[in-house]
Amino acid sequence: MSRLDPLRHLEGELAALEERGLLRTPPAPTMEGAALLNLCSNDYLGYASEPWPEDLLGRSGAGASRLVTGNFAAHEVAESALAGWLHTEAALLFSSGYAANVGTVAALAGRGDVVVSDALNHASLIDGCRLSGAEVRVVPHLDLAATEAALAGAHGARRRWVVTESYFSMDGDSPDLPRLRAICDRHDAALVLDEAHVLGVFGPHGRGLAAESGVVADVLIGTAGKSLGLHSAFVAGSHALRLWLWNRARSFVFSTGVSPVLASALVHRIRCVEADDVGRARLVARGAQLRAGLAALGVPDVAAGRGPVIPWIIGSADAAVALSGRLREQGILVQAIRPPTVPTGSARLRITVHARLSSEDIERALAAFRATR
Ligand SMILES: Cc1ncc(COP(=O)(O)O)c(C=O)c1O
Repeated sequence: MSRLDPLRHLEGELAALEERGLLRTPPAPTMEGAALLNLCSNDYLGYASEPWPEDLLGRSGAGASRLVTGNFAAHEVAESALAGWLHTEAALLFSSGYAANVGTVAALAGRGDVVVSDALNHASLIDGCRLSGAEVRVVPHLDLAATEAALAGAHGARRRWVVTESYFSMDGDSPDLPRLRAICDRHDAALVLDEAHVLGVFGPHGRGLAAESGVVADVLIGTAGKSLGLHSAFVAGSHALRLWLWNRARSFVFSTGVSPVLASALVHRIRCVEADDVGRARLVARGAQLRAGLAALGVPDVAAGRGPVIPWIIGSADAAVALSGRLREQGILVQAIRPPTVPTGSARLRITVHARLSSEDIERALAAFRATR
């Protein structure tokens, strides 16, 4: 008897996605030194293109979970360096920001708890909330009154958690962190803060927006995949938090330890990023230049923003993809971001700046935006 392909439904599902303008196919590999000007990476300080330091030696692989035989001195040195940089008692490495968020939220919150989660939180935070078994109350984006109301109505819960980002990667906006901290304190809630897009970018020595605003998160999450220009991620906080995650974060416990040589590279990179006030100043200057130019072209809502992310909301997925294609023909690489990454009807160009762009690069980009819109 001939066997039916149990995956035969996929062709049809893919065709349906394509029909709705939502099919994503792997883009051409990003070419080093190509003529295209890259205005859509998360490598905000420009370190990702640097070669591995020549004197960086170490084991390539951990060979096992950290809990088994995969715990090496390089991990602990990197975790001390992270804790020192971020002014926390301790830190724990994860293999990615996705793994850190899913594992941390699900390990901390549980049945009987209430988690208040911003409507635009990253997928990894959403998945962590879902896995936790807690009751999740999704509040409108950046709505602190709704956050407070959700917490006020949760005093009967075992514990309360607020899960949010300090800088939203698709919108380039931020919660009022001092007010949010005060709300958490009033309702005995823990603040879980994802600083993925602002570590290295804002704050004293690039310590992020919480540090900039004098706020201490109970759980601070960052990734090495953005300003640090590497790969892997970390959760920073108390010794007790680190040990709890060591025991209970399933994406940590049941996963191979981060490559020890990568952990050593991370220490080197933290030192570079901490000291890079010049890069941070350039990033601010290039962002301001591009925002002013886009506002002059009539792009709405860009002038007031800050930081590396500049969203240009187009609306329809097809129109955003078409504009991205026309820009590519002009030598500018800006990907269109479509649902489900952003809400339906808000497809956009997510433009990002980085510290190694020159003023001429920004002028070149603006000329292309002018010619294609
Ligand atoms: C806010 C936020 N958190 C976490 C992540 C995941 O980080 P990583 O790329 O290291 O998995 C991302 C990446 O897109 C992000 O934007």
